[in-house]
Amino acid sequence: MSTKQRVVVVTGGGQGIGREYAIAFAARGDAVVIADLNSENAESVHREIQDQGGTSLAVVTNVADKASVDAMVQKTADRFGTVDVLINNAAIFSALKMKPFEEISPDEWEKVFAVNSRGVFLCAQAVAPYMKKQRSGRIVNISSSVVTTGRANYAHYVASKGAVSALNKSLATELGEYNITSNVVSPHGIVTEIPRETITDDQWAGMLAEQAIKRKGTPQDVVAAVVFLASEEAGYITGQTLLIDGGLRYT
Ligand SMILES: NC(=O)c1ccc[n+]([C@@H]2O[C@H](COP(=O)([O-])OP(=O)(O)OC[C@H]3O[C@@H](n4cnc5c(N)ncnc54)[C@H](O)[C@@H]3O)[C@@H](O)[C@H]2O)c1
Repeated sequence: MSTKQRVVVVTGGGQGIGREYAIAFAARGDAVVIADLNSENAESVHREIQDQGGTSLAVVTNVADKASVDAMVQKTADRFGTVDVLINNAAIFSALKMKPFEEISPDEWEKVFAVNSRGVFLCAQAVAPYMKKQRSGRIVNISSSVVTTGRANYAHYVASKGAVSALNKSLATELGEYNITSNVVSPHGIVTEIPRETITDDQWAGMLAEQAIKRKGTPQDVVAAVVFLASEEAGYITGQTLLIDGGLRYT
């Protein structure tokens, strides 16, 4: 793949899979912006990249807030000149409270949508002028396999990710004439350093029984796909969804 340095914004890059995207792009030689609500984690990933000789910037960002997103993209442009790649990864995910849909309050619903759906929209909107100007860009939106399967007690999350999958089609349609691609990567259960109570041991066993590949997913299983969709070589692939689910229900 091309080794030209690009400017890559990874939202939610302070932990979990987002951290792995940030480290992978930096290892490739790209300039990486870690845009996360958690300043300590964003700084920690920034230091990790610096220690490995990479180029990065930590910017505390709330993706749900337009002013915060615009300021993050402005800081990115001030430092690195443009934005070539946006990885729309930030979400209320590991911190999410699961509950039956009848018990989800309108406020909880709005909070999840504000980050998981509006955040994706606001970040795409903020980087688009830079990508349009240079007539190239890559947007990778992280959705989830639950959009295709549903999952009990997760209605706010599933619906918010469904919006991401649908928005992707609109972004691809509107941005294609500028050689900007927009694609979705939808992971299934991926184990990270963050403990989660949302999948019990019994549920893991049930999920693995339904997967063609009988192991839990790792961040590296997702990173390679995201790096590819963000590459110059993927310029004729847009509006697509890549499910990374170990072959769920192909058994
Ligand atoms: N891990 C999995 O099994 C899995 C499966 C399917 C999809 N996903 C998706 O992959 C992505 C990463 O998953 P993860 O396991 O690393 O999640 P995670 O919960 O560990 O990390 C989410 C990150 O987003 C950040 N964040 C939350 N709200 C934010 C906001 N308002 N503004 C900016 N940053 C914010 C958090 O600080 C955190 O760093 C998420 O979009 C998630 O929905 C994960």
